[in-house]
Amino acid sequence: MLSAHLTLDPAFRVAPVHRRTFGTFVEHLGRCVYTGIYEPGHPTADEEGFRGDVLELTRELGATTARYPGGNFVSGYRWEDGVGPRSERPRRLDLAWHSTETNEFGLDEFVAWTRKAELEPMMAVNLGTRGVAEALDLLEYCNIESGTHLSDLRVAHGSKRPHDIRMWCLGNEMDGPWQIGHMGAREYGRLAAGTARAMRMIDPALELVACGSSGSGMPTFGAWESTVLEETYDLVDFISCHAYYEEHDGDLASFLASAADMDHFIDAVVATADSVGARLRSKKKINISFDEWNVWYLSRFQNAEPPRDWPVAPPLLEDHYHLADAVTFGGLLISLLRHSDRVTSACLAQLVNVIAPIMTEPGGRAWRQTTFHPFAQASRHAAGQVLRVEPASPTHETARFGEVAALDAVATHDEESGATTLFAVNRSTDRPLTLTADLRALGPVRLAGATVLSGPDPYARNTADAPDTVVPRTNTEARLDAGTLEITLPAVSWNVIRLLRA
Ligand code: AHR
Repeated sequence: MLSAHLTLDPAFRVAPVHRRTFGTFVEHLGRCVYTGIYEPGHPTADEEGFRGDVLELTRELGATTARYPGGNFVSGYRWEDGVGPRSERPRRLDLAWHSTETNEFGLDEFVAWTRKAELEPMMAVNLGTRGVAEALDLLEYCNIESGTHLSDLRVAHGSKRPHDIRMWCLGNEMDGPWQIGHMGAREYGRLAAGTARAMRMIDPALELVACGSSGSGMPTFGAWESTVLEETYDLVDFISCHAYYEEHDGDLASFLASAADMDHFIDAVVATADSVGARLRSKKKINISFDEWNVWYLSRFQNAEPPRDWPVAPPLLEDHYHLADAVTFGGLLISLLRHSDRVTSACLAQLVNVIAPIMTEPGGRAWRQTTFHPFAQASRHAAGQVLRVEPASPTHETARFGEVAALDAVATHDEESGATTLFAVNRSTDRPLTLTADLRALGPVRLAGATVLSGPDPYARNTADAPDTVVPRTNTEARLDAGTLEITLPAVSWNVIRLLRA
């Protein structure tokens, strides 16, 4: 048995919990849109063709924003194809995913869907095959009330109210050689700056995201952020980060410690952004939009044959997550929350079917993957201020990330409601951990609940037939006595401990 200790003190504040930390991502990719969020004729579909079961699960997930329409897809996309009468919308080749895009679902449908799902739309502009003019057109169509060609067109298409989209991504992963229109950092930085400057002429209050690296392993990582921010520093609010993790060669210990890599990635981007700010003698801080993160078995996808023909909405990137994936995923959420002073927006990539917490059968059932649960719990219970917790924990060696602590944890404290929540992961592959937490600084509190996501088989999954194989269960071993919490966290587990003012 391992043992670890931590202290919760409401004075140890990092930053407020940002609701946008719990954002997600809807890309025209595989079955995310078609037979994911949209499937006219499905037994639960509403009059607009939106699947009611998916809408319900999206609300239960607690997703707060949705980035759209890509991803790699956006770099070849013409947004005009997806608006207006459906019968006139063109079918196009989607080069990014070697599919056919029917354009049956487009911008106006997406915004209508976000209103029903109760989340904020976040839009990406195409800077791969397009540029400043098309970004301005899209902004005019979305956000101008009426009285211009494109705003009147939106009204004519049935959306009287402007879409009022506040957050805009200036392209996607432009550092990646796989990206349509891939370019160098200086070239992209100038294009992003020109696009941002022009968009701000329409609305200076927009929140704009410049593309950072598509992963910290990219050969240009660091230099890319530095150059892009040299060009865009005064014009953007965010630099993006993207990161995906998977278990390599059965190395579960490293995989469970993936958050150590995410911590390092975030710290490196913050340091790079601040060094550009210092060189420019700017007092402004650039925040991070971690607008793609998840567990993704990317190597399986890279080794698979791309579709030979150009199918419509083929099943792509449909990872089926197990318990260890969900525990690793919980660690990534802890890392994002821990960095709330600079990570003020994040998107789980993606929402449905494509590396997603929600899975569907065409015409059939929808269910929660294992990763659904840590996300839903964190979105529901993280409130108020993020607290810095500095666990004293045993450590172990990992092949990929060196020495890591067995216990990873973060907490939030909401002064108004008196709720404090501790999120904790035991990354040991084989040993339970007894955690003692000193709660005296919180004043009198009572235990409002303790759940654990764990089980005898770290590779257990949820399926349509057995959707509740891996779900949070009550941890009956939690004890609270004289301001000290004691609880046992099983090996490979995600834990949520809720305290309320007594
Ligand atoms: O989320 C899947 C893909 O991963 C996105 O389209 C792209 O931006 C990233 O490489």
